[in-house]
Amino acid sequence: MRFMPVAGERQRYAERKALLRGRAVEQHTHKSGLRSKLSAMRRSLIVTIIVFMLVAGGATAQSTAGVQQQPVGSRDGRPITLYTLTNSHGVEIRAMNYGGIIVAIRVPDRKGQLADIALGHETMEGYIPNPPYLGAIVGRYANRIANGKFTLDGKTYSLPQNDGTNTLHGGVKRSFDKVTWDGEPLKGTTGVAFSYLSKDGEEGFPGNLTVKVTYTLTESNELVIDYEATTDKATPINVSQHSYFNLASEGNGDVLNHEVEINADRFTPVDKNLIPTGELRPVKGTPLDFSTPTRVGARIDDTYDQLTLAHGYDHNFIINRKGDGLTFAARVYEPTSGRVLEVSTTQPAIQFYTGNFLDGSVTGKQGHVYKRRYGFCLETQHYPDSPNHPDFPTTILKPGETFRSKTVFKFSAK
Ligand code: BGC
Repeated sequence: MRFMPVAGERQRYAERKALLRGRAVEQHTHKSGLRSKLSAMRRSLIVTIIVFMLVAGGATAQSTAGVQQQPVGSRDGRPITLYTLTNSHGVEIRAMNYGGIIVAIRVPDRKGQLADIALGHETMEGYIPNPPYLGAIVGRYANRIANGKFTLDGKTYSLPQNDGTNTLHGGVKRSFDKVTWDGEPLKGTTGVAFSYLSKDGEEGFPGNLTVKVTYTLTESNELVIDYEATTDKATPINVSQHSYFNLASEGNGDVLNHEVEINADRFTPVDKNLIPTGELRPVKGTPLDFSTPTRVGARIDDTYDQLTLAHGYDHNFIINRKGDGLTFAARVYEPTSGRVLEVSTTQPAIQFYTGNFLDGSVTGKQGHVYKRRYGFCLETQHYPDSPNHPDFPTTILKPGETFRSKTVFKFSAK
């Protein structure tokens, strides 16, 4: 089932209908007497209708501010619902309880023109399968765990390997992007909460892990994502959001012209399997230095070993922070539209991925073919493979503790 048209499309539809009605009226009056007088009256009537429709269309965007729900199919016998969060500026975030997937993000450009900047599909079925993890919540362990193995409290755990010998984004069958979450609109605010119980042993991980992810849309055009988790056995957790953005609009070419700034003096270099070597390397003097805004395409094909290994940017940047509060992590600007995305987070790091592995095999919305580097991800996270790096900040959640993290994606234009 197709996702219902967005507010903008509803408005365009109303305008088209008004115009067609206008033409029909004009044809009908063509042969009658008092022709010119009548058609003048009709023309003014048409103008009135169009103006009314536009105002009504605008009002629709206003009056639908809040959360709308649409049934969009079922998975494993459970209903899948699409939640549309709309604020009074007409900004729209759409997400469904299958994989907690964000299916659309409609935000204005510098002229106020809304466009969908999230790569994705027009139906729930389009996401089955979803090899690039478009828009999904990723976990239990976002990013890679080397050789699908880790040892905790003297016990070695084996996970399904789905990226060479690594485990990527939590496994194969029941990773967070592929399961049905419980969805519930938030009360008193424009948001939705998705909850999921990942059972002890699921995808090889220990402990019954209860996870809650909420998406809230603010009146300042921010998407606020809150993560929370508890467990009954010690277990690693690293949960993130895998939206691919193209600030010019989804499907609108590659992202090489976007300008990126990342608040990180260091990153974790990787080996040929994209597993951190353990080194924390300064970005200074490397093509990974985004301490001042730089075009993605300016250095992406340099022969620097890290870029060759990852086929572009696909690296974990360590956020410069004072304390553990919400800290500015990255800003992206797209010059043709003027759109800006700013990311803040409580997480220690952020994966900047330039869609190097998009290869044209996925066709998304409106028949758009998602080719190499047609989108970028900014995945707030802990360092990859932390369970095998005791010197990295710990990702182990223990019974009695609550894992909490927050990430804010703020959309604006200049
Ligand atoms: C990883 C990429 C991977 C992509 C899709 C990103 O988080 O860093 O290496 O190809 O997800 O799975």
